Amino acid sequence: MKKILSIVLKKITPTKKEIILEQKMVEKIRKKLLKIKGKHSYLEWCGSSARGTHLCKDRDLDLFIMFNKELSEEELEKEGLKTAKKLFKGSKWEKAYSQHPYLRGEIDGFEIEIVPSYIVKSGAEKKSAVDRTPLHNKFLLEKMSENQKKDARLLKQFLKGIGAYGADLKNCSLPGYGVELLVLYYSSFKKAIKGISEMKPGHIINITKKINEEEIKNIFKNQKFPLIIIDPVDEKRNVASALSEEQFQRMIHASKKFLKNPNIKFFFPKKIIPLPIKKIKELLEQRELIAVKMPFLENELPDIFWGQLRREEKKLKTQLEENDFKVTRSTTWSNEKEVFILFELETLTLQKSKKIFGPKASDEENSKKFLDKKRKIISGPRIEDERLILEIEREYTKAKIFLEKEIKKETKTEKKTIKKSLKKAIVLEEKEILKEYKKDFAKYLTQYLIGKERFE
Ligand code: CTP
Repeated sequence: MKKILSIVLKKITPTKKEIILEQKMVEKIRKKLLKIKGKHSYLEWCGSSARGTHLCKDRDLDLFIMFNKELSEEELEKEGLKTAKKLFKGSKWEKAYSQHPYLRGEIDGFEIEIVPSYIVKSGAEKKSAVDRTPLHNKFLLEKMSENQKKDARLLKQFLKGIGAYGADLKNCSLPGYGVELLVLYYSSFKKAIKGISEMKPGHIINITKKINEEEIKNIFKNQKFPLIIIDPVDEKRNVASALSEEQFQRMIHASKKFLKNPNIKFFFPKKIIPLPIKKIKELLEQRELIAVKMPFLENELPDIFWGQLRREEKKLKTQLEENDFKVTRSTTWSNEKEVFILFELETLTLQKSKKIFGPKASDEENSKKFLDKKRKIISGPRIEDERLILEIEREYTKAKIFLEKEIKKETKTEKKTIKKSLKKAIVLEEKEILKEYKKDFAKYLTQYLIGKERFE
């Protein structure tokens, strides 16, 4: 394992040159800020690059313009944006939104976020969620050793390799900050992997112990989290709140396997080579797959749109099942340009007739209700054993037609921006899916049909 970890570390640690360039860039912006007149106090470099826990080729810099708490929120927004615009002068930038607006832009190949924030001493004092970020920085810089920083990089790459990294709605896993906290709690990469491998749903990571387990359970009693990582700077927040049950189980399973049999493939899985189309055709013939294709809305924030997509997948799945199309597997894929929602069904075509079971024939009152209901009856009513039976006509027998109708209905009722995308949605069956078998979707479909974890 030692050898593997040292190879991985070499591959993922930013070079000295990268680090110097980052530092120079931050200093350049810090100096620029000093010259700008305004109500700001100072610049704080946050995020993993400031802590030395980022992975190489990560060109993100999170820079916070710090303001006094006495400033009103309106003034912070106005002042913050005005100052950030001056810092980006001559470069490409756009406005982005967290709890309040900030600017995101590009200078010399760096993706820079400039965020106005209040100076606070604790999470309890915060006025907005972003105020916690500089506190995270302070906490980790004080507590993490140089070796633990290396180990945080290793754990980030491990989770990336197994496909369980990132707290956004696309990945539903842990944020970088959560990974750093795990390493700090368990003290090293190896111990963190061991700790993860032994986790059970409902596991709590409580570093500062400022609150006890009972209080934690009480704070989160209405939410069901597989893992709770108490934010040391704000005990009411679970840093692992985005982690899904599936990703949690993936982390545990991969950690167990890695401990038994360490291998570099956990960090760097083999590249997916799309199978030849003939093979894909064969694999598709073995199952009943149907897809909804629609455009990804480029003007929408990816995280918000991903949230809407996940909801849509769930909604359509429920509708399919309520109409007797049994869904054996469903998933959503997107390269942030096109979206494919895939449903694997037990069958794409149902029988025209459906047998329904009524009450006992001797139950007069309920029998009347059962028989009075309007339905297209194909056969019956008759008695089987002691119950009333009807065979009725199904409204939808083809999954494709059913989905097309459901989507059309959604475009009329949906209020969220996904409506625009749904208007352009089309439903694809095997032949049409094969026509889409190219580039990134080909890689995804290959992996989906092989159906194996990348580390297996
Ligand atoms: N943050 C957080 N919770 C999240 C996401 C971000 O608390 N779900 C805070 C953390 O303080 C984090 C900072 O915002 O350090 C910047 O986040 P981001 O740029 O997304 O990630 P990094 O921590 O820089 O980690 P990496 O880029 O290595 O994934």
